Amino acid sequence: MSQVTPETDASIKFRSPTIADGAEMWRVVTDSGVLDPNSCYMYLLLCKDFADTCVVAEHEGRVVGFVTGYRPPTRPDAIFLWQVGVDAAMRGCGLGKRLLAAFLQSSGAAGAARLETTISPSNEASKALFASVARSIGADMTVATGFTEADFPADGNHEAEELYLIGPLDPTRTEQLSP
Ligand SMILES: CC(C)(COP(=O)(O)OP(=O)(O)OC[C@H]1O[C@@H](n2cnc3c(N)ncnc32)[C@H](O)[C@@H]1OP(=O)(O)O)[C@@H](O)C(=O)NCCC(=O)NCCS
Repeated sequence: MSQVTPETDASIKFRSPTIADGAEMWRVVTDSGVLDPNSCYMYLLLCKDFADTCVVAEHEGRVVGFVTGYRPPTRPDAIFLWQVGVDAAMRGCGLGKRLLAAFLQSSGAAGAARLETTISPSNEASKALFASVARSIGADMTVATGFTEADFPADGNHEAEELYLIGPLDPTRTEQLSP
């Protein structure tokens, strides 16, 4: 797999996933060593039923990054981003930000007033990514309690997940982001 350097590299395609992408999304997760490992079945379900709020980045026929999310049924004005992952070899080249741009511009995010996600306090890359997107679209970013350490199994050694709220989302600004 060749390295991508320019932030606008046109060889990367952003699209909604199909079931055929589920196993590759799962691979990006397990390879990351950072994202919570879930069963591959979870990604197959997301590809089947939530494809309009998920994005994959494809490079040379391989999935090199993805975003998963959904519209929370009790907060329809929000778009929740569950996981974003970029293959280690491709990090730091703007791909994460381009994935978020494609996510915010996806059909499933249409009309959302607020982007929600959760981030562990130690995940500096993720915090920097969302702060960068908030800056680019002129939105506020606030942090609230999401899930506490105590919400996770006692022996699981899982950090808290703080809730990040980014908004208000202005479609004119989000459309200007470049996937
Ligand atoms: C988080 C992640 C998706 C970022 O993807 P990426 O392609 O490397 O990010 P980008 O190159 O688009 O960078 C976006 C911004 O974050 C900053 N950033 C990226 N990695 C960083 C790091 N390790 N430390 C500090 N800042 C970082 C960049 O400088 C950039 O900021 P700028 O726009 O102000 O210049 C990637 O590091 C990853 O896959 N990590 C493992 C999985 C994970 O932690 N996912 C998030 C939790 S769901």
